[in-house]
Amino acid sequence: MRILAFAASNSSKSINKQLVAHAADVLKADIITDADIEMLDINDYEMPIYSSDREEAGGIPDLAHQFAAKIGAADALLISFAEHNGYYSAAYKNLFDWTSRIDGKVYQDKPMVILATSPGPGGAASVLGSAKTSAPYFGADVKADLSVASFYDVFDMENGRIKDADIQAKLEAALATLK
Ligand SMILES: Cc1cc2nc3c(=O)[nH]c(=O)nc-3n(C[C@H](O)[C@H](O)[C@H](O)COP(=O)(O)O)c2cc1C
Repeated sequence: MRILAFAASNSSKSINKQLVAHAADVLKADIITDADIEMLDINDYEMPIYSSDREEAGGIPDLAHQFAAKIGAADALLISFAEHNGYYSAAYKNLFDWTSRIDGKVYQDKPMVILATSPGPGGAASVLGSAKTSAPYFGADVKADLSVASFYDVFDMENGRIKDADIQAKLEAALATLK
């Protein structure tokens, strides 16, 4: 089973990248042991800010096609969303917008588990809720979602693991829906 995993953040210190990397490790170690997991960095898909003028002048950048092809080649997706002012990071929204110009079904009907975390008590639940609510419009088959609040309190940065047993159990249950 081919899993494409990424954080919807362009931060080199992204906590969502740390969370999704941990989730990928758990998935491979305990849940789908033959999973072939690719970690993608959205920084590798940075494009000029979407504009209809740019699209008319130059078409859709090849990077958007490459990102769509990565999704297309996967059997399932694992995404952790950073929350900026209640919504997607501008970096991910731009990638999403360009990719949606190829096909509105950006997620290509793939099963997916969506996560989100923030340093505060809100756990990036707003962006996670938006991603979940809008999922059907973008061909996303969301199997499970999990918001992790107060990331720095619950995550052991040194060892890359969740300290809180209850949250770890919830993560494992969410990942198991991809089996
Ligand atoms: C412009 C900006 C807006 C933010 N807005 C929110 C917000 O609405 N809710 C929230 O919980 N955190 C917010 N944060 C804090 C982010 O959750 C925090 O920076 C987090 O580390 C982002 O995830 P990342 O590390 O994966 O990029 C914001 C941060 C920035 C820079």
